[in-house]
Amino acid sequence: MKSLNPVKTSAGVRIDPRRLRSRLDELGAVSPIPGGGSCRLALTDEDRAGRDLVRSWMVDLGLRVQVDGIGNMIATWECASGDPVMTGSHIDTVRTGGRYDGNYGVIAGLEVIETLMTAGLTPSRPMSVAVFTNEEGARFQPDMLGSLVYVGGLGVEEALDTRAIDGARLGDELTRIGYDGAFPVPGPAPYAFVELHIEQGPLLEAEGFTIGAVDGVQGISWQELTITGQSNHAGTTPMSLRHDPAYVAGAITVFLRELATEMGGNQVCTVGKIDLSPNLINVVPASALITIDVRNTDEMLLRQAEDRITTFLRDLSEREGVGIDARRLARFEPVIFDPEVVRLVESIALEHGHTVKRMPSGAGHDAQMLARVCPAAMIFVPSHRGISHNAAEHTDDVDLVAGANVLLDTMWSLTENDPNKESE
Ligand code: GLV
Ligand code: MN
Ligand code: MN
Repeated sequence: MKSLNPVKTSAGVRIDPRRLRSRLDELGAVSPIPGGGSCRLALTDEDRAGRDLVRSWMVDLGLRVQVDGIGNMIATWECASGDPVMTGSHIDTVRTGGRYDGNYGVIAGLEVIETLMTAGLTPSRPMSVAVFTNEEGARFQPDMLGSLVYVGGLGVEEALDTRAIDGARLGDELTRIGYDGAFPVPGPAPYAFVELHIEQGPLLEAEGFTIGAVDGVQGISWQELTITGQSNHAGTTPMSLRHDPAYVAGAITVFLRELATEMGGNQVCTVGKIDLSPNLINVVPASALITIDVRNTDEMLLRQAEDRITTFLRDLSEREGVGIDARRLARFEPVIFDPEVVRLVESIALEHGHTVKRMPSGAGHDAQMLARVCPAAMIFVPSHRGISHNAAEHTDDVDLVAGANVLLDTMWSLTENDPNKESE
């Protein structure tokens, strides 16, 4: 991996806060849900509508828009030769998404380019803004699928064969919405990648920081468990004779909470989905399908948590006389971002007069995939009350603008980087 030794410079211009806000609102209004959020699950009609809008902005700016074989949209300002400094994120959402998760990074990237263009400033490298397919992983797993394919971490054919939670095949959905592009994947490695995102957690706001200089992303372990028991009558089956998937699902949920609490530190565990079948008041269920999401910034600790869960599931299955089959949905090790790019973000934020916290990301992001092929880092801004994956997600405009301006000077500095300092 090349080492950039980036030198901080300023473009001397600032983004247009009203344009940033109006695009966030326009994209949010594409697929609104009560409470001010959006539902744009990957590769649905709503995702298509969001993509069409963002693509129209890219085209209006005169950018070259390339859609690749997994549906990633990459818009490039071909203002110079060389590998581009890339930014971007995603515009798919969870079912209960807010207006900022992903959208902010994409729109701020366009804002950086439009600001520079309007000021007549031409960077010494191309700049590009990416919209990666299925970052959320809410409809298709794994999460960060588009950026994973982009960097060659998952074959495109395997990715296209992925099944949605509603049974649809990813490749069919991509074709249906018209975003099965011709540009080959894996795609070309950018010169550097910087993603701007809301924190989605409570730390920046609670501790009074405006900018997070994100130095890594915690590891993610996702599994789906199918628990099969004995369906029976709720009134007549003695408790001692039950093989009850609902009870087992509940026991796993409680165990995960206790495990995370006992391990402490950055360990988090979540059961986000429980489907019982037949799901009726007077029937001991036949089966349960649950998902478990386990994360830690430390790979050793993450493995320890996974091992303890496996042991618990084996004992529980024996004790309760149920089958528990595990299917792996995603597994990504913790990622450490490029120290030089993190330092650059930090020094630019300080130069802009902001308070800055170095921090890892608790959420998964496309930048963690791009970090496999180029120097990468992220910029965070505060999330009000740490609420995210929720329609109530909110970040104050002043913070959104601060983050976008830090992105602007970070991208500008990377494009103006002294190539003599670059070593492969
Ligand atoms: C993606 O948003 C994740 O971290 O779950
Ligand atoms: Mn996101
Ligand atoms: Mn998200």
